[in-house]
Amino acid sequence: MNANIAVIGMGVMGSCLALNMANHKFKVSVYNYTPDLTDKFIKNHPHENITAYYDIPSLVQSVARPRKFFIMVTAGKAVDAVIDSLLPYLEADDIIMDGGNSFYKDTQRRYKYVTEKGFKYFGVGVSGGEEGALNGPALMPGGNKESYPPVQSVLEAIAAKADDGKPCCTYIGEDGAGHYVKMVHNGIEYADMQLIAEAYLLLKNVGGLTNEQISAVFNDWNKGELSSFLINITADILKEKDDINGGYLVDKILDSAGQKGTGRWTSIAALEQGVNTSIMTSACNARNISSFYAKRQQLADSGLKQPLPVQIDADFVEDVRRSLYAAKIAAYTQGFELYKSASQIHDWNLNLGEVASIFRAGCIIKAKFLNNITAAYQKNPQLDNLLEDDFFFSKIRENQLSLRKIIAKAVYAGVPIPAFSNAMAYIDGLCTKTVGANLIQAQRDYFGAHTYKRIDRDGIFHHQWQKHY
Ligand code: 6PG
Repeated sequence: MNANIAVIGMGVMGSCLALNMANHKFKVSVYNYTPDLTDKFIKNHPHENITAYYDIPSLVQSVARPRKFFIMVTAGKAVDAVIDSLLPYLEADDIIMDGGNSFYKDTQRRYKYVTEKGFKYFGVGVSGGEEGALNGPALMPGGNKESYPPVQSVLEAIAAKADDGKPCCTYIGEDGAGHYVKMVHNGIEYADMQLIAEAYLLLKNVGGLTNEQISAVFNDWNKGELSSFLINITADILKEKDDINGGYLVDKILDSAGQKGTGRWTSIAALEQGVNTSIMTSACNARNISSFYAKRQQLADSGLKQPLPVQIDADFVEDVRRSLYAAKIAAYTQGFELYKSASQIHDWNLNLGEVASIFRAGCIIKAKFLNNITAAYQKNPQLDNLLEDDFFFSKIRENQLSLRKIIAKAVYAGVPIPAFSNAMAYIDGLCTKTVGANLIQAQRDYFGAHTYKRIDRDGIFHHQWQKHY
């Protein structure tokens, strides 16, 4: 068989992607390091367009040139192992794609390694989980641009389609650009999820709403400007019953969040690049503090926390909605600032409007307002910060008083809402002429002669401070 592509790694995501390709009439060769997963896949999903292979040389020979390999194995050493197993059998211009959540610096290293040997390499961000992989994920391919056309037809065919029919897949940029874009997508995903969790906590612990009521609120919000996959699934989750011992399942789930690391990578990259992604970082930290479950139970009963009474008015639910919208805008603004900075540092020439447009369907952060982000960058491709766009500027003005009110209430009630608070601090920080950095510069100069600039003349200054310590 002259297969169009080979998928390596028959875990859940690899299997779903292979089926998605086969359903789009591509001839697919499949392979797994251990034969058991391949056998299970072939037995459970027999498909006329799929053929299994049990050794690398036959797998490689089965694919038409330039050969395309889509690796879907656990990020890390396994990816290097698969690449090394393929290399001896490849011919010039064959293409290796890695669809896992690989760290973008690993992808940069692998791109160089594979490209120097005369082959082509792509790091492909894949979002949408199992359902997306099978029926249409958002895809973020980054790698050798000249080899994009041969992979484009497969990737665009299997990708989700947005409302206007456009595939949620576009060439992102050289080397690690695709995985970088996916990494920040996950950082935004963390922020989005944390903001929704904080809205839930406010409605529940400050507003006193029941799960059913909060589910109805989220359903309602999903009809408007907050419409998104994550809001939608939250409405479902909140009304799901526990089939083990009654009540609501959400109340039976241990209040301790896991994380695989991509959100954390985003914050680390942001600190390295000198970009403020405080909302995403606060989401990581919220997961961290949640994991100290036993300690929290103990300190919650210790009397250390001294909350104050809070008045709930008729606008409370609407104020939470407005706060969520404003904070979500701030989180995406930070994510897109990070993209802009990375594009300059790595020379990726990222098209930010296109990046927003491929998030419109298929992926976890798909949301109505991504159209507005695309529109903002179409209007001004050089846009420095999303909040300077007319649409987002007016939305922040419309909703920020609610955000201030809600944060004040949460602080009074002792309900932790770090992502909401960081969103407000970010907006205020950006829109404030004096932020106290003059004093920091003075301190640095005082104890370390680090120098400072003046507001009234050019140059670098050092002062002989009167020291009295
Ligand atoms: C996606 C997701 C996915 C991610 C999970 C789990 O876009 O489909 O981002 O790639 O792995 O959401 O991530 P955490 O375990 O870190 O929450």
